[in-house]
Amino acid sequence: MSASDDSGLPSGAMARGEVYRSLLDQFRAAKIPSADLDARLLMAAATQVDEVALIADPHKLVEPKFLDVLQGYVRRRLSGEPVSRILGRREFWGLSFSLTEATLDPRPDSETLVEAVLAHVTERDAPLQILDLGTGTGCLLLALLSELPQARGLGVDCASDAVKAATRNADQLGLADRVVFRIGNWGEGVDGPFDLVVSNPPYIPSGDIPDLSQEVRTHDPMAALDGGDDGLTAYREIALETRRLLTPEGVAFWELGIGQSEDVSTIASDAGLKAFGLHPDLAGIPRVLAVKRLV
Ligand SMILES: C[S@@+](CC[C@H](N)C(=O)[O-])C[C@H]1O[C@@H](n2cnc3c(N)ncnc32)[C@H](O)[C@@H]1O
Repeated sequence: MSASDDSGLPSGAMARGEVYRSLLDQFRAAKIPSADLDARLLMAAATQVDEVALIADPHKLVEPKFLDVLQGYVRRRLSGEPVSRILGRREFWGLSFSLTEATLDPRPDSETLVEAVLAHVTERDAPLQILDLGTGTGCLLLALLSELPQARGLGVDCASDAVKAATRNADQLGLADRVVFRIGNWGEGVDGPFDLVVSNPPYIPSGDIPDLSQEVRTHDPMAALDGGDDGLTAYREIALETRRLLTPEGVAFWELGIGQSEDVSTIASDAGLKAFGLHPDLAGIPRVLAVKRLV
């Protein structure tokens, strides 16, 4: 095998299986928990081959131009950058979303919110109006629109680059004709009513931000994380807007941080709403609160 560069990958012609094992060794040595998945995702992207083909044909040589790209990816991963940031995209609800520096990297836990909404909707063909407060990549709203063919949506975010990314994602997913994204401060200036209001607001208490992993602190935008002193600042504003913007029969679904369900239920009732359902994520953690209007 020829000499390696500082990405740790040997240079010169290499077979797919050899490249994969080299990546795996380096990622394991760096104690990257998802070493295997990360190696496969980065290899598939760099070599422009799907993951199944990579495994099916391990003896095929990787072209040097693809190896160069992969070396760049490996260096970035070893320096702590998440795969989704390196590739600029993330799978959510089986759909591919582009990311930018202004968008949260969508989390698998947030699929709990999509599941909760779909479990609530009795008629999937109904012409529902959906509002998404703090839309980021648009992942929640676009996942819902992909399942509800007559629904229409409005997504709001304070970050203009997030709004651009969400708009691009709607285009790429073929959903642009049923959704509008706009810059705004939660529901300010929005006219309702909406049948569904969804939100995954920033909910980390400011004092806990320094304890987050380096990957999160460095690569997710602060506006998507910081929930103020007690982590609940955004819920207080969202609750008031939700009360104003929901139809009388409408339901809102809010994602929660760990241990926030009681406090957020109280915030809801102070705003004239009633919490009536709590949905756990795959780890059994109460993750989504369903609320409706009191009257
Ligand atoms: C936790 S992220 C959620 C993003 C996306 N909905 C998701 O689930 O991946 C919260 C989002 O709220 C946005 N945000 C923060 N403060 C806001 C405000 N005052 N008005 C509107 N959006 C806000 C952030 O820019 C960020 O995109």
